Amino acid sequence: MFGLTACLIAFGGCDTPQKAIQAVQNAPKMLSEKEQKIEALLSKMTLDEKCGQLNFVVGPILTGPTLQNPPTSADLEGQIRAGQITGIFNTNGAKNIRHLQEVAVKSSRLGIPLLIGADIIHGYKTITPIPLGESASWDLAAIEKSAAVAAAECAATGINLTFAPMVDISRDARWGRVAEGAGEDPYLGSLIAAARVRGFQGKNLAAANTIATCIKHFAAYGAPEAGREYNTVDMSERRLRETYLPPYRAAVEAGAATFMSSFNELDGTPATANEFLLDKILRKEWGFKGLVMSDWASIEEMIGHGSVANRNEAGAAALKAGVDMDMMSYIYLKELPKMVAAGQIDLKFVDQAVRRTLALKYDLGLFTNPYQYGDEATEASVILSKENRATALDIAKKSIVLLQNPNNVLPLKKDTKTIGLIGALGEDKVEHNGTWSFFGEAKDVVSVAEGIREKVGKSTKILTSRGADLYNMDKSGFAEAVKVAEQSDVVVMAVGEAAVMSGEAASRSDIRLPAAQEDLIRAVMAVGKPVVVLTFHGRPLELSFLENQPASVLACWSLGTETGHAIADVVFGDYNPSGHLPMSFPRKVGQVPIYYSYKNTGRFYKGNYSEAPSERVYQSKYRDVKNTPLFPFGYGLSYTTFTYSDVKLDQSEMTNNQSITASITLTNTGKMDGEEVVQMYLKDDVGSVTRPVRELKGFQKVMLKAGESREITFKITASDLAFYRKDMSWGSEAGQFKVFIGGNSETMNHKKQ
Ligand code: GLC
Repeated sequence: MFGLTACLIAFGGCDTPQKAIQAVQNAPKMLSEKEQKIEALLSKMTLDEKCGQLNFVVGPILTGPTLQNPPTSADLEGQIRAGQITGIFNTNGAKNIRHLQEVAVKSSRLGIPLLIGADIIHGYKTITPIPLGESASWDLAAIEKSAAVAAAECAATGINLTFAPMVDISRDARWGRVAEGAGEDPYLGSLIAAARVRGFQGKNLAAANTIATCIKHFAAYGAPEAGREYNTVDMSERRLRETYLPPYRAAVEAGAATFMSSFNELDGTPATANEFLLDKILRKEWGFKGLVMSDWASIEEMIGHGSVANRNEAGAAALKAGVDMDMMSYIYLKELPKMVAAGQIDLKFVDQAVRRTLALKYDLGLFTNPYQYGDEATEASVILSKENRATALDIAKKSIVLLQNPNNVLPLKKDTKTIGLIGALGEDKVEHNGTWSFFGEAKDVVSVAEGIREKVGKSTKILTSRGADLYNMDKSGFAEAVKVAEQSDVVVMAVGEAAVMSGEAASRSDIRLPAAQEDLIRAVMAVGKPVVVLTFHGRPLELSFLENQPASVLACWSLGTETGHAIADVVFGDYNPSGHLPMSFPRKVGQVPIYYSYKNTGRFYKGNYSEAPSERVYQSKYRDVKNTPLFPFGYGLSYTTFTYSDVKLDQSEMTNNQSITASITLTNTGKMDGEEVVQMYLKDDVGSVTRPVRELKGFQKVMLKAGESREITFKITASDLAFYRKDMSWGSEAGQFKVFIGGNSETMNHKKQ
């Protein structure tokens, strides 16, 4: 037992306690077992081996600019043996990955195990809804569970690190990668980021069914000018800190293992060499100790940005700024050894990066058992298990948002005589897995048609027609579709985007339904039968043509493996839709970026557009469209109805260390049990800087039986009122505030505080 007392004796000769304590304080720091392991390994490594530990390379599935000669598996194995690779990403299969680990452990000089990474953004084989869809559930437990299922399937196949969650806030539906995030709001986005980290990593990163996360893309990648992929990002530090940074910070606080720097520049410096982001904020302010990797070749791409002149400068800038691992530039592997030898960069930066890399492998348990990830028996039993499909179905149902149901056509009756299913996504299985689902297989997807067929009675006839394609203006299928509509009692339309129309490198300047699908819907609606429109997409779409139309509309995102079952449960009322939008749906793409927490301006529009919007008034408005979105952030209907009582506050003022309780009584006034997302927004009337018209500061998803009422309360503290004040200090200011509580971000149900 080596305690403090023994330590004093060990130092012998100290004749006063003060000297003894001094001696202890000056003694070499006791290294933990982990640190001892890392230092011992580091001391044996050659410079080339150190730089090899910083080189992360792709396997068979390329997710970046195509390489002239992609590495063959023989190449990869040779590089592993030579200690030139720290890990491989976007490969899979327990047998294959065990072999790669054996090559590393048994055939390389130091036997350091491999990281096996992959873009498991919303499921490995059991594909769940795209993250923007899952975010519409506002169900943090369900979101966490979804990530946990993905982690278990990854671990079973041998993947020990996922390049997820993507936590980039975005208010621009033109940008294809909104599909991967949690929408426009930092409060909701932060809670979801933390839930996903907990889901993937669990309570023990070394467990055989949890994997490391990689928080991406740091930072503010979701704010590219004009919504154009990889485009310039430039904003005030206040906006960066208030809107874009919170989810990354929440991920750090949730224990995220790694970060990924983003492609974009920020304020003139590429994120991959941005010391303000990577060092000042991430390390010094937030205390992140983990590993930072680049994005695909983003180190070398700084030459394209024009912030460096060559590969050496790029490598030095990235490593010094705090990027520890090089994904696909091969600069750390090939240039760093020469640069260190030539004194162009201090070895301490290399050692720091290697320590973080070895620490990650240690935390994953790879030094204890390099083969714990990837087991063929587990792979066979876990992947696409009944339980995993049930989890996918649960989150898929909760992700669907009822946008309109004016004639209560929904829910449909299961004994409907004839149902017409029209649209390219009715029988389809390929598109429903959505973006970033390359290990998912179409054969495992339940189509909309299959889901409906399983749900309805034997006597129900289902007529189908594609009607229109996803890619071209060919209308030759319209006649058949109209005929199906004429022969049906009700029509279900399954329309939307192809999976590749969102995700990376998928910005769209026109965010309407692609090709001739809008016209197809118009032609079918003209037949006059009841119509249900299911929209499948990776982003908010411009759906203004459906405003004031009798059709019912469900926003369905990309729902993944259990698409058909989730759709059937909602369409036929076995599940009452409870989704609420995590991102505004614009009336016109010209409104973008559009978001609920906007600033008032000095000439805010007072009208209500009852006049022709083309009126000229010197106020902040358009002349050809309303300011408001078609469907706002937080919006979602139900098959039942809810009413809110007036907001009550238990006191009218509070000091910094007090709190106020705001409450409403929610009543389910309809005939169906249902869930409501009760949202609480705060508005700071006057601040030392201008403040948004409101900000989400609390929500509760509540299940009420038909006719049931319940009091819902929110505790408001000074921290809810804090912001970056004029001097950029964080805190609240005395003043008057409004409390809004309602079912979406346009609620006017408020109380002054
Ligand atoms: C891609 C993406 C990133 C992904 C990485 C590896 O370019 O930007 O999100 O994780 O490369 O596939």
